[in-house]
Amino acid sequence: MRILIIGSGGREHALAWKISQSPLTKKIFCAPGNAGIASVAECVDIGSEDVENLAAFARSEKIDLTVVGPEDPLSMGIVDRFQSLGLRIFGPSGQAARLESSKAFARQVLGRYGIPGPAFQIVESVDAARACAEEMDGYCVVKADGLAKGKGVIVCGNVDEACDGIDLVMKDRAFGSAGDRVVIEERLDGEEVSILAFTDGEAIIMMESAQDHKRVGEGDTGKNTGGMGAYSPAPVLKPRISAQIEQEIILQTIHAMNAEGWPYRGVLYAGLMITDSGPKVLEFNVRFGDPETQPLMIRMKSDIVPLLMACTDGTLGRHEIEWDRRPSVCIVMASDGYPDEYKKGIEITGLEEADAVEDCKVFHAGTKLSKGKVVTAGGRVLGVTALGSNVMKAQQRCLEAVSRIHFNGAHYRRDIGFRAIRREMEA
Ligand code: AMP
Ligand code: GLY
Repeated sequence: MRILIIGSGGREHALAWKISQSPLTKKIFCAPGNAGIASVAECVDIGSEDVENLAAFARSEKIDLTVVGPEDPLSMGIVDRFQSLGLRIFGPSGQAARLESSKAFARQVLGRYGIPGPAFQIVESVDAARACAEEMDGYCVVKADGLAKGKGVIVCGNVDEACDGIDLVMKDRAFGSAGDRVVIEERLDGEEVSILAFTDGEAIIMMESAQDHKRVGEGDTGKNTGGMGAYSPAPVLKPRISAQIEQEIILQTIHAMNAEGWPYRGVLYAGLMITDSGPKVLEFNVRFGDPETQPLMIRMKSDIVPLLMACTDGTLGRHEIEWDRRPSVCIVMASDGYPDEYKKGIEITGLEEADAVEDCKVFHAGTKLSKGKVVTAGGRVLGVTALGSNVMKAQQRCLEAVSRIHFNGAHYRRDIGFRAIRREMEA
């Protein structure tokens, strides 16, 4: 098969790496790709949101399957466009992608079908937003309705913070039209986990759990980022809770989308809070998570290509996934200054030496080739990923590999997986 992957991050490198191991794969293209992806795919200089040129490319190159990484092309309706041309593509339609592109839509669907989530209100004026925040004593979360590159969520502890958040989104319009509507929701306490599930619109297969580390600093301190690391599985997820998530959240959401007339196919990613009163949905994403995909792909033993195909043709019910029982960890190495401003074009060395660490794979995110050298090209640069007999051993392998990589100003967290490691030490 000839497969096209859309995107250029660590998630896409992990997908390309996994897809390249399938006996069904003849050739992989990636638009636009990065320096690491170039080792398993032919990178094509088309932007991930350039739907028309991507479709033209898929037609002229006789692509058998397109896999979309990021949310923007999905919410722009890339799946609808490809399908209208008879091209097979993995992902939800533009309407179904509103589960991610409109937080108000997602909350309404959850609310209508009684799927567990926080209490919420959708508001369109500053006054209504403030009244709602006051009702919750300011212990709430202010969310811009639309896509805001993961930044449109403000977690508040008191009324002043909530009012500042509301002003930022609705008055200063920090996220533009994404802030036309705002969701004010109950702030939940607990431990977060990421659950990704394949679905063909009827059947689902849950992947193993994962946990992201969104803050830049160790111990989950400092600014929010796109994700500084992740690991799998998340031990907070006991089998009983996992079964509850499968039945009451993921399957229910797929049924709800069918009932609403927007069948959902592809991968559904639920960001969940495990609260004292059970798992609740914080957010949906309509794509693979980044960086969760990196530790998931290194653990997935089954061929991923038949799974992707089955999601597009309604035969997922015949499949199951085999996983490596060993846990995995992914440590993100970021550019100096990230998540604020950072420089690009800094040479990276030691990549081969890092890849040589046993059961370790370095996934590239913001990298590119320049005059035969690999240089930085983004905030999150690499996702150093490894398996281990437990989370601590996997983390140690990652750190060994990280120590072999050099680029000026590189920073990373040394504590990825700390919640699981704490549990391992207590056991
Ligand atoms: P989202 O983009 O909706 O995932 O939100 C980003 C982050 O904000 C989540 O990963 C949580 O850490 C936090 N968050 C979102 N909603 C809530 C909530 N209702 N209660 C507590 N934290 C939340
Ligand atoms: N790991 C967070 C995300 O993919 O949105």
